[in-house]
Amino acid sequence: MRSHWGSKLGFILATAGSAVGLGNIWRFPYLIAQNGGGAFLLVYLLCVALLGYFLLTAKITFGRIAETNFVHGFEKVTDGHVSRWWGRVGGSLTLFNIFFVAAVYVVVIGWTLSYVVASGKNLVGIAPVVIDKNLFGALTSSFGMQLFWGALCIVSAFVILTHGVKGGIEKASLYLMPFLFVLLIFMVVWMFMVPGSEKGLLYLIKPNWADLGITSTGFNLHKLAHTALLALGQAIYSLSLGLGVCFIYGSYLNPETDIKKSALWVVVLDTLVAVLASMIVVPAVFAFGLESNQGPTLSFVTLPFVFNQMVGGKVFMFVFFLLLFVAALTSLISIYEPAINLLIERKHMSRWKACLCAAGINLILSMIVLASFTGHLDWTILGKNLFDFADHLTGTYTMGLMVLVYCVFMGWKIWPQISDNLGIKNKIFKQYFSFVIKWLSPIVLVLLFVMA
Ligand code: ALA
Repeated sequence: MRSHWGSKLGFILATAGSAVGLGNIWRFPYLIAQNGGGAFLLVYLLCVALLGYFLLTAKITFGRIAETNFVHGFEKVTDGHVSRWWGRVGGSLTLFNIFFVAAVYVVVIGWTLSYVVASGKNLVGIAPVVIDKNLFGALTSSFGMQLFWGALCIVSAFVILTHGVKGGIEKASLYLMPFLFVLLIFMVVWMFMVPGSEKGLLYLIKPNWADLGITSTGFNLHKLAHTALLALGQAIYSLSLGLGVCFIYGSYLNPETDIKKSALWVVVLDTLVAVLASMIVVPAVFAFGLESNQGPTLSFVTLPFVFNQMVGGKVFMFVFFLLLFVAALTSLISIYEPAINLLIERKHMSRWKACLCAAGINLILSMIVLASFTGHLDWTILGKNLFDFADHLTGTYTMGLMVLVYCVFMGWKIWPQISDNLGIKNKIFKQYFSFVIKWLSPIVLVLLFVMA
């Protein structure tokens, strides 16, 4: 028998748990800092409001209609009237994204867990260590250490997942998500009280148009398209739109749940966390006169440097990394779930075996990505090690490509079913929704791929 959610709140928190992750707290603040502060924030908010919400709603609905795995779903909703290639192409892209995103994810969540433990030790005074760039350097050059912490995270996700949809994913989200919000609010309030943090807040609010390629002398179209692609890619990544998660979470949903409202909650919570995380990270860095545009190392090198100088920095450091870990764990479990469901339905595996299989594949891919990252494996693509390449490829291109495939299918093959299932009454909303799925999203995605 197919699994189902125990409650609407459970579904909303589990989907928000999937959405809120490293993307919001680790990736978003450095993207915003590197791409024009408030200007990037504005483009991001537009992407989420005009496209992201509708894509999320449509994909959850597609899953609810299909009530099956993401490969078979295409044929099932059309009673076998579409070519098998839809399932093959959509399914392969989904699997590719799941495992390559998870491979990178595990490395970063592993760093996070090691920082939770190190800052926890500092807090209670047991075997204290200095958390600085040397510690990060030592961690990221050690294959064994990173594998150890990454494997521990995989085991944590595995334990939750073996308890099933209701007893594992939903239960964990019901406890962990409220905890995450408490931590987040605690940190934002604290950050507001740090002298000098207002400069960072101003940077977040005030758009720097030149960073978008818009100056008094004209437009730099390439720059604008590049930033828009980054923002849209981030929205797709953050809402877990390119991973089959919303589809599969929708397939566990009962017919009575109002998807339009639930998806709105998810989008609001996800965006709120991203904005609040930026309001912690960017002001923290500005308050100490540092550059906030270092990229991926911002959370692991610059922030600890800042925390080390702050009053109460030990507590702040521990809470920050705990927050990052909790957010990442609820996302990691969701990334696996579509693959686990596929193995159960297509290969008739028990849930336990399917979890083991997904975790095993993830471990192997993470080891390869890690070995390339630490230089133990001399594999690079386009001059990037496999860690950077996989992050860039999935975050910017393949997740967008998958969304494109889904949009064409949902918009041109099953739109009447989606619209009926959602029970949209408002005519203008219905027309805009159909326009987004049929035209706007595919055109924007293709244009951005070509121009960026
Ligand atoms: N949606 C997840 C995140 O933002 C993948 O990290």
